Amino acid sequence: MQLIANTQQAEAWNGHEGKHWADNADAFDRLNSGFNDDLLRAAAIGTHDRVLDIGCGTGQITRLAAKLATSGETTGIDIAAPMVERARAATAEEGITNAHFQQGDAQVHTFPRRHYDAVVSRGGVMFFADPVTAFSNIGSALRPGGRLAFIVPQQPSPDGESTQVFAPVNTLMKQPSPAQRGMMSLSDPARAQTILAAAGFSEAHATSIEGPIVWGRNIDEAVDFYFSLGPVRFNLEGLPDTVVQQARNQVRASLLPYTYPEGIRLRGAVWLVTATSTAS
Ligand SMILES: C[S@@+](CC[C@H](N)C(=O)[O-])C[C@H]1O[C@@H](n2cnc3c(N)ncnc32)[C@H](O)[C@@H]1O
Repeated sequence: MQLIANTQQAEAWNGHEGKHWADNADAFDRLNSGFNDDLLRAAAIGTHDRVLDIGCGTGQITRLAAKLATSGETTGIDIAAPMVERARAATAEEGITNAHFQQGDAQVHTFPRRHYDAVVSRGGVMFFADPVTAFSNIGSALRPGGRLAFIVPQQPSPDGESTQVFAPVNTLMKQPSPAQRGMMSLSDPARAQTILAAAGFSEAHATSIEGPIVWGRNIDEAVDFYFSLGPVRFNLEGLPDTVVQQARNQVRASLLPYTYPEGIRLRGAVWLVTATSTAS
């Protein structure tokens, strides 16, 4: 039987927002890929390693880790069925045989004890209602001395490119969408370090890393994708068409100068958090 403690998140990610993410997996991977190399390098994955990816979504990081652990294996866990389904399909399409997926709540899932050499996550560890319990549970799956590496969003900087470009919509954003709740829960590195220490990890460090954030291959794709995001749709719903259209026009004009050969690209920063399991 599947154990679920984070029922609000399970509902949200199994609902419209999770389905939208799974249906647009390539666009979300394009958006978040700029931090992949730093994350995987921090996890120092060896060819024989067993790797666990928390909140794996549609599994891009699980698959990239599997390509590093050629004689090992990777497991992705996610609370959302549409994500796991898409992850399995993409993995089969790519012919990867050492990456596997499970649907479950990482806070309470029964992981094999002391089994994994490394745990990674690209933005999948911020949503726990009880983060100390969640990271203790995740830590119990790591072998003694096993490595934890994850990335989480930073609080938006007032002069950051995204803050400037999306300002016309930010002023209309009143509350987080259901899937967005908790998104910033680890954005304070001191809090992340306190949680990890309480959960039995040592040597917790947070490093700011910058990377490209590609919103679309061209301006139309970028604007459509931005306005399709769960948090944006949630907050714009019910507003007069003229207000939404004006915001669209403004965002489009602000994004245009960020046109590069690979598409519409802004720069962004995330926290890369690393720690070591002290379990014996
Ligand atoms: C922001 S998305 C990131 C997905 C993926 N890591 C990526 O980079 O594309 C967050 C993911 O965490 C998952 N998630 C949220 N709470 C979770 C929990 N308690 N246990 C497992 N997965 C969870 C969501 O279903 C979602 O797929």
